[in-house]
Amino acid sequence: MTIATRAPAAFRRFHRLRRTPALRSLVREARLDPAAWVLPVFVDARLAEPTPIASLPGHSRWPVSRVVELAERAAAARIGGLLLFGLPDEKDDGGAAADPLGPVPSALRAIRRAVPGIALIADVCLCEYTTHGHCGVLSRDGGIDNDATLPLLCAAATSYAEAGADLVAPSDMMDGRVGAIRAALDVAGHTETAILSYAAKFASAFYGPFREAADCAPQFGDRTAYQMDPPNAREALAEIATDLAEGADMIMVKPAGPYLDVIAAARARLDVPVAAYQVSGEYAALHAAAERGWIDLERAAVESLVGITRAGADVICTYFALEAAAWLGR
Ligand code: PBG
Repeated sequence: MTIATRAPAAFRRFHRLRRTPALRSLVREARLDPAAWVLPVFVDARLAEPTPIASLPGHSRWPVSRVVELAERAAAARIGGLLLFGLPDEKDDGGAAADPLGPVPSALRAIRRAVPGIALIADVCLCEYTTHGHCGVLSRDGGIDNDATLPLLCAAATSYAEAGADLVAPSDMMDGRVGAIRAALDVAGHTETAILSYAAKFASAFYGPFREAADCAPQFGDRTAYQMDPPNAREALAEIATDLAEGADMIMVKPAGPYLDVIAAARARLDVPVAAYQVSGEYAALHAAAERGWIDLERAAVESLVGITRAGADVICTYFALEAAAWLGR
């Protein structure tokens, strides 16, 4: 008995375009480009030598006197920008954030002079500068005084603009701060300094390693009364719209991996650059799993960056920036 052979019912052969590395590369939808990445940099006024951060493998806190070396490395890797965080000599009630001789303004001036070709972004927040570790001024009842915090943020942003920041990036999540900072910058003559607002910043468990790196864990309570509640995506879009209305030039979603839906929704609705911050815990978790031999670091890291890019992020702040640029360059 012969069995009739005929062409199977038509089905689509997806495999054809996956057959070789050349074909896969040809039809790739999302491409990684270090020019769209921002490297977080910790500048510590108390140090004379770079000091490794245990919770962020491969990263150090840098003294002002040496931070240009890191900026040069980033520029050589064709990374698009640096995001500067400062650890002051001494913490106070938050005023130290605006000190023109503080770690961030000093580093901005040094890098601006030595490495002109890289975008400089200054994080604006009080938590690294306050003795209590909260992002704002404390109110009498032990909460955060939103409105009393705004002038301090404005002073810090103005000081960073003065020192040469291309963008100031408020990450404190106080209401009304983008409008206040825009007005302060304009009055001081810094009309060309842009604002990258951490508009949708969630109260995340993934910030753990950063708080060790920046020495800014709250000494009591947590940040849930000012950062966003993780389930709220609609509210994130309202936060973003509000910051744009107040004058933000770019917005950021943070963290990135657990909030890809927010990135995608923001990208679909808006015509401004959308940034995403792959935060310290996202980075440290991949490193920790790789150290145990449970995942391949390079493949997992690249896949995480591809996911954030595919979701629609134009710019990615990532601790993988230098490593991943080296991987892509091979
Ligand atoms: C606060 C700030 C934080 C991060 C950036 N800016 C920490 C926080 O809100 O507790 C987290 C970044 C990271 O985890 O990589 N100024």
